[in-house]
Amino acid sequence: MLKIATVVGARPQFIKSLLVSNEIRKTCREILIHTGQHYDHNMSVIFFEEMGIPEPDYNLGVGSGNQGAQTAQMLARIESVLIEEKPDALLVYGDTNSTLAGALAASKLHIPVAHVEAGLRSFDKKMPEEINRIVADHISDILFCPTQTAVDNLKNEGIAKGIELVGDVMYDLALRFGRIAEERSDILNKLGLQPKEYLLATIHRSANTDEVKNLKVLLETFVESGERIIFPIHPRTRKVIDDIGLNDIIDGSHIRLIDPVGYIDFLKLEKNAAKILTDSGGVQKEAFFFAVPCITLRDTTEWIETVGSGWNILVNVDKELLLNQISEFNPSGEPARLFGDGKASLYIAQRLTTL
Ligand code: UD1
Ligand code: UDP
Repeated sequence: MLKIATVVGARPQFIKSLLVSNEIRKTCREILIHTGQHYDHNMSVIFFEEMGIPEPDYNLGVGSGNQGAQTAQMLARIESVLIEEKPDALLVYGDTNSTLAGALAASKLHIPVAHVEAGLRSFDKKMPEEINRIVADHISDILFCPTQTAVDNLKNEGIAKGIELVGDVMYDLALRFGRIAEERSDILNKLGLQPKEYLLATIHRSANTDEVKNLKVLLETFVESGERIIFPIHPRTRKVIDDIGLNDIIDGSHIRLIDPVGYIDFLKLEKNAAKILTDSGGVQKEAFFFAVPCITLRDTTEWIETVGSGWNILVNVDKELLLNQISEFNPSGEPARLFGDGKASLYIAQRLTTL
C-alpha cells in the first residue's frame, strides 16, 4: 500500500487537507504531520474537531518564531519523521513556512513532493509566502494548480514537468461546507447580526501588522466608515493591537473584535456579509465563491481572477480610497466559475495513487 506523508501546520492548511485526506485514505496509508505552526485552540484543534479532520500522527510542536528559526526547526523535525516513516511521497499545501519546510525536507531525501496550490504568485518577494511558493514549486515533482494562471506562471519560470490543472480544493470545500454552515451555524444569532447588515474583516499579513502604522490606519478607516464590522481577529494582529495599545481606536465604535471562529461559523459570516475586507488569500476566494464583494487590503494578489471578474478590488492602505470603496464598491452579475468543478480533491488523490 502506498504511504503518503502530508504536512500541515497553519489554519488554512488544516481546512484544505480534509477532502484530499479523505480520498487518499480510501486506497493509501496517510501519515499526517502537524508542524505546530498554529497551536491556539481556535487556530488548530477547532478545525480537527468540527470538520472531522483525521488526528495527526505527529505533532511537531514547533510553535512561533522568526522566519528562519521556525522554518529550521520544522525542517529538522520533519526530516526525522520522514527518515523513520519512509513515505512514497510527501504532500504540502499552499505557501506557509510549513509548506517550505516539508518540501525541502522531502526533496533532500529524494522523496517525491506534491504541492497543492502550486503556481500562485503575487510577484512581491517581500512577502514570506512568495519565497515559500517559489522554492516549493521548484523542488516539487507534482504541481497541482488551481487555475490556468497558476499553470502559466510555472511555465514562465521554466517548469515543464509535473503540472496538473485540477481546480481549487477550497472551492470543493466551500461547496460542501457552505451548505453545512447554512444549516448548522448559529453565529448570526449569537452575535445579534442580520444578513447583509454588517461587513466582515480579517487582517494578518505582515505588511498590515508588523507595519504598525498600516494597522492603525486600517482600524481608523474601519471606525470612520461608520459600518458595523465583525472582525474575527488573528492572534498575530491581536498581539500588535494589545502591545501597541490600539484598542482605544475601536473602543465605543461599531467594530466588534471577536476571537477567530471555526470554519463553519466563518463561512456563515462570509455568506451573509454585505462586504468583506481582508488581506487573506483564502478569504478572497471564499468571498468570490459566495458572490460577496471583497475589498482586499493589499496592493497585490495571487488570485487575480477574482479581481478580473470584478468581485474583488485591491486597495492599499489609504484611508480616502478605502472609505470610498467601502461605500461604493458594488459589483453585479454572477462571478464566473473559475476554480474547477468541485472535484479537485478527488483528482489530486487519484493522481497520487498512480505514483
Ligand atoms: C501564517 C503564514 C501565512 C498564512 C497564515 C494563515 C507563514 C510565513 N505565514 O501566517 O502565509 O496566511 O499563517 O493564518 O508561514 N500566533 C499565536 N497563536 C497561534 C498562531 C500564531 O499566538 O496559534 C501568533 C504568534 O505571535 C506568532 C504570530 O501569530 O508569532 C504569527 O504566526 P505565524 O504562524 O508565524 O504566521 P501567520 O501570520 O499566522
Ligand atoms: N477562517 C476561519 N476562521 C476565521 C478566519 C478564517 O475558519 O476566524 C478560514 C477561512 O474560511 C479560510 C481560511 O481560514 O478558509 C483562511 O485562512 P487565513 O486567512 O488564516 O490564511 P490565508 O488563506 O491567508 O493563508
